[in-house]
Amino acid sequence: MTEVTTALGLTTEQVERVLTSASLAPSVHNTQPWRFKIAPDRIELHPDTSRALSATDPETRELRLSCGAALYNLRLALQSTGVRPLVTMLPGKDAPGALAVVRRGGTIKIDDEGRRLLGAVPHRRTNRRPFLDAPVDPRQRHVLVRAAELERSWLHVVTTPEDRAQLQQLVHRAHEIQLADRAVQAELAAYTGHRPGTGDGVPPASTGVRPAMQDEWAFRDFQGSERHLGKDCESDPLVVVLCSHYDSPLGDLQAGQAMQRVLLTATVHGLSASFLSQPIEVPRVREDLRRALGGVLVPQTVLRIGYSTPVPPTPRRPVSELLMDSGEHVLR
Ligand SMILES: Cc1cc2nc3c(=O)[nH]c(=O)nc-3n(C[C@H](O)[C@H](O)[C@H](O)COP(=O)(O)O)c2cc1C
Repeated sequence: MTEVTTALGLTTEQVERVLTSASLAPSVHNTQPWRFKIAPDRIELHPDTSRALSATDPETRELRLSCGAALYNLRLALQSTGVRPLVTMLPGKDAPGALAVVRRGGTIKIDDEGRRLLGAVPHRRTNRRPFLDAPVDPRQRHVLVRAAELERSWLHVVTTPEDRAQLQQLVHRAHEIQLADRAVQAELAAYTGHRPGTGDGVPPASTGVRPAMQDEWAFRDFQGSERHLGKDCESDPLVVVLCSHYDSPLGDLQAGQAMQRVLLTATVHGLSASFLSQPIEVPRVREDLRRALGGVLVPQTVLRIGYSTPVPPTPRRPVSELLMDSGEHVLR
């Protein structure tokens, strides 16, 4: 097993802490598809392609979004140690196979917002429970939109009844396509339910309510989710589509960081969030969603945001399992 070493002038304990923060990021089916290579002058973030979901996420777009979220946490955690993170995304030959390389770009004192966002890292959770029937305050919407912009992405807020109906229809269409796809369902089953000793996946306590086709929004149907969404679910959640400006691996990584900043900002403001990713995962539905948004922005994830009751954390693998040997290369 590879051990944590020093990097960027930090102690091994500090390196372990920043990697723990990174590992608390959300990931599709809680696959945690990231690995880290540590050297004295850098921390490299690599995709763990053995954890890719070839049916659900055939273009590994969501894998990169998940890694982007881990990168955002890593940046915040480094700032709290006084390290200004200098990030090179998709470094190419400089670090073969890496999605990003983080070096020391001098020193920094983390600001109040950064401290609050970092404080939210262990408390942020995907909350699939029904939300309260209380609208999200327009000022809070504004800070969420700003959070995405600060990470070079765009948060489209679904406001009109027509947009809402159109998005609901796209979510349902993609949901039905995925329900009929055995490979997609097999990946879902493989990562849900009791998975003792694995440190990944979505445990029964986190699966939320079971969707039914007549529901307004079709949630992912996790194995083991028992209750029916029914009338207990909020009638009008805030629904947003996080978009990137580029349809490329770089756009995916930027969107992943923006997604995490939006989710942490929501947590700071007492808001819960869950995902409605089906229309992103089915390429022909994603194309329709892209057209519905005007054809320029690239939809990357759909979030439902509102007020709810707390949910338990999902498991994480220990940092020691996330480390690569310094000589090891992962080719994408
Ligand atoms: C890119 C991405 C897509 C996701 N899509 C869905 C989804 O469609 N439905 C859902 O219930 N959860 C979705 N999730 C949430 C993950 O299942 C969740 O992050 C993971 O189980 C870890 O739990 P946590 O977020 O509470 O830490 C998604 C997460 C990511 C990062």
